[in-house]
Amino acid sequence: MSAPRSIIRYFTGTGNTKRIAEKIGQALVAVGDTLDIAAIPGAPPVTDADRCVFCSPVYALGLPRVVKRYLAGLPKLGTPRPALLVVTAGNPDHTGWALRHGRELLDARGYRVIVSETIHMPDNWTPFLPAPPAEVSAVRLAAGDELAAQLSREFLAGKERHRPFSLRSMTPAGSWLTHHCFHDLGINHMWSLFRATDACTSCGLCERICPVGAITMAGGRPKWSRKCEQCCRCFNLCPARAIEQLDLVGRGSTRDRYCEPNFKPYHESEAT
Ligand SMILES: Cc1cc2nc3c(=O)[nH]c(=O)nc-3n(C[C@H](O)[C@H](O)[C@H](O)COP(=O)(O)O)c2cc1C
Ligand code: SF4
Ligand code: SF4
Repeated sequence: MSAPRSIIRYFTGTGNTKRIAEKIGQALVAVGDTLDIAAIPGAPPVTDADRCVFCSPVYALGLPRVVKRYLAGLPKLGTPRPALLVVTAGNPDHTGWALRHGRELLDARGYRVIVSETIHMPDNWTPFLPAPPAEVSAVRLAAGDELAAQLSREFLAGKERHRPFSLRSMTPAGSWLTHHCFHDLGINHMWSLFRATDACTSCGLCERICPVGAITMAGGRPKWSRKCEQCCRCFNLCPARAIEQLDLVGRGSTRDRYCEPNFKPYHESEAT
């Protein structure tokens, strides 16, 4: 009999979600599964896997557009497949609609979501929030690893676990406005608030690492486009810290950067 086949599909900006996806992958391999793990949006859909895992960050109380498009575009399954849905969040109380929408999209494509849960990770929205201190990040990442392992065990055991939908710590009106203004207005326009300062060395790394191909180099400087998902990878990983994002009154953010410590979506030689 051949080994059960697992697939993991994840989207990541700064590596938190990739770390969780890999942790879950290790747990599946440990029970003898063969593993196909790949990043959204390029990852091919698979319709005959025995176990399916989907991982995403939370953006403004919901799923990133690119993840919603990917889930909505999955081929409809003939036979239901067990699925594990995990979102990573800077504040689990701000999960908002992310899990609920993810579950609905997967249900509609024929998946049977057994576990859907949020994992608390360091917040990476660093253009607008301070980066977490390294020691806080380390504790949170370690706790995230543990929860990922726990969720994997429950998924493998077929034990249902779903984080209840909650808009805790925000009023429903405030949550609705945050979610819809950010998704429907913010993401479509916030790409135009990125700038490269004179510190830019024209290395082109930002263009090469953008997960959705939203940056092109022009005249030695990055140009952002509306394909941008606001994942903050370019902002956080620019080796010259040359990228800033303007706030509502036109001030460029000078905050610290954050990235999961082992995340390197480039070859070492490219990082100079
Ligand atoms: C544009 C943007 C919006 C975010 N919105 C939320 C949010 O609404 N709630 C939350 O808990 N975290 C939010 N975060 C934090 C991320 O979900 C969190 O840090 C996640 O672990 C990042 O994953 P990654 O490193 O895989 O990109 C946001 C981050 C970004 C970049
Ligand atoms: S990564 Fe930074 S230094 Fe390199 S081209 Fe982009 S903005 Fe300039
Ligand atoms: S342009 Fe920057 S913030 Fe936007 S999707 Fe690409 S890497 Fe992420």
